[in-house]
Amino acid sequence: MRWRQKVLMFILILTASFVAVLASNSLIQPKVMATVALLQPAPTQPLGYYDYFGKLLSPQEANDFVRNQGLDPADPVSYQRLGAVEITQQLLESGENIFFNTKIGDTFGLQGVFGFGAGLLRVQPELIAAITELHGEPTTNLRLTLQEDLTLGSRTYPKGSVIDTGLDVERAANFPLGLQFDGSLTCAVCHVVLSKTGERLKGVPNGDLNIPLLVALSTNTAAGFARLDLNPLDPSYQGNGKTIIDSDNQLVTLPDPEKFESAFDDAVLDVPFGNFESSPDAIRNTNRLILNIS
Ligand code: HEC
Repeated sequence: MRWRQKVLMFILILTASFVAVLASNSLIQPKVMATVALLQPAPTQPLGYYDYFGKLLSPQEANDFVRNQGLDPADPVSYQRLGAVEITQQLLESGENIFFNTKIGDTFGLQGVFGFGAGLLRVQPELIAAITELHGEPTTNLRLTLQEDLTLGSRTYPKGSVIDTGLDVERAANFPLGLQFDGSLTCAVCHVVLSKTGERLKGVPNGDLNIPLLVALSTNTAAGFARLDLNPLDPSYQGNGKTIIDSDNQLVTLPDPEKFESAFDDAVLDVPFGNFESSPDAIRNTNRLILNIS
């Protein structure tokens, strides 16, 4: 080929690739419309309205609804009989109180099996020291300075390392928001953050929360192995495990608890901050806390 043809050919190939990239981009454009509704903030609950299984009814609509069902709209019980819940100040306050102060999950699972509180205890001196260091000032990321070496999975964080927890501490508080002394969690640990001036931003996701650390610290989180894609019967986890007879009358040696916990902690520590694996489906598909639920 003469050089002119070569240049022409080159330009042609370049143009064709460019067009192909543009075309493929436009073909795989996400359908924005489908996700818009998901990204809207959750509706706030207007006082005096009714919640009818997730559908908001104005006082007038609720009144008509009750009357159409042959009940007396002047009697509050009529609404309750149909499952329409009146949104009152008292109801909102009790919801907020549960959100901030009531521990979540079942204590048997979270504490007895996973050992969440026992895990937190491992860094309790660091936690208390870090809060004392704040001198009553709020923070959106409590940072722990390790007083001893800390081994999680196959990693060891040496004494003196500084670890970001992403935990928020309110002004003059003596424990992080959403955590309780016994290691129980409330919804607020993940779904509330503090503003720069220390105000509570209710329902705003705590996107920098070091959930992997909290899980890896817990003593027996491998019990949740079904959330990731670890096979407990993989020969590499064999060791000091118990033996059981399975439903086919076969002898099965369970994994070595320490090796398996260590493998689980390694996998958990690979999950980015603010992410969380909520489904026990043996698939590694972590979710990011992005939803604003205020
Ligand atoms: C360990 C962190 C964590 C805690 C504690 C937590 N959540 Fe969540 N929440 C998440 C994550 C991550 C998502 C988004 C991904 C998902 O749906 O799994 C989410 C999503 C949600 C959503 C929106 C999605 C949906 O399923 O409708 C609501 C509402 C919600 N959480 C309410 C609560 C309430 C109420 C509590 C307390 C009872 C709570 N969360 C405790 C992490 C947490």
